[in-house]
Amino acid sequence: MNRKAMKTSDVSRYNRIALGINAPIYAYYAARILEKTGIGSGSCLDVGCGGGYLGLALARITALDFIFLDLSQDMLRCADENISAYGLTGRAVTQLGQVQAIPLSDASVDLVISRGSVPFWDELSTAFREINRVLKPGGHAYVGGGLGDPKTRDAIRGQMEKEDPEWLENRRTLPRHDNRHYSDALEAAGIDSYTLDRGDDGMWIVFRKE
Ligand SMILES: C[S@@+](CC[C@H](N)C(=O)[O-])C[C@H]1O[C@@H](n2cnc3c(N)ncnc32)[C@H](O)[C@@H]1O
Repeated sequence: MNRKAMKTSDVSRYNRIALGINAPIYAYYAARILEKTGIGSGSCLDVGCGGGYLGLALARITALDFIFLDLSQDMLRCADENISAYGLTGRAVTQLGQVQAIPLSDASVDLVISRGSVPFWDELSTAFREINRVLKPGGHAYVGGGLGDPKTRDAIRGQMEKEDPEWLENRRTLPRHDNRHYSDALEAAGIDSYTLDRGDDGMWIVFRKE
């Protein structure tokens, strides 16, 4: 099992960078998610949300309500502060928990989103089964990671290398599942119809609850 939370000092640095240099990444994916799923109202679960950056970017362009789920209490403290700073207190709640046992009822959300968290998940098939379980019929899951489109990514790389000369090297050591591992897990979870793309804008798995 690999479910350790980040150190508190790393969380505050992560939060500062996510809200600053990395903000265009979340705006980019929020627009992609809305365009691809067409879900602009109802409820959205952001899994492994960190400080809530992707959901908060999506909140800006939709009428969705949000549940922000993470296993790290420190990350959720950032999410609470960010929700309040964005004026979204009435539309968002945070929830401590793990993707492998999502503390929500069956068929309770319209959209599940997750960025940058899936490489850290163990028991992948359990995680996907849980995501599928909480989706309403017709709901979508959009799970993956990346630094945005090539233009966004190049701009961020330049800024991050100035901020931290070891940034690129550290990114290379991040955990990673291969496509086969994802496909096996999705199929073991009973999800037969999905797309798994490693394209210009990262690795993304998208499926619709039947
Ligand atoms: C690299 S951060 C990504 C945060 C945010 N989604 C983003 O895009 O910046 C990964 C997050 O996933 C969370 N996480 C890792 N494993 C998890 C699990 N099994 N269940 C829930 N959250 C998890 C971590 O605590 C961390 O906040």
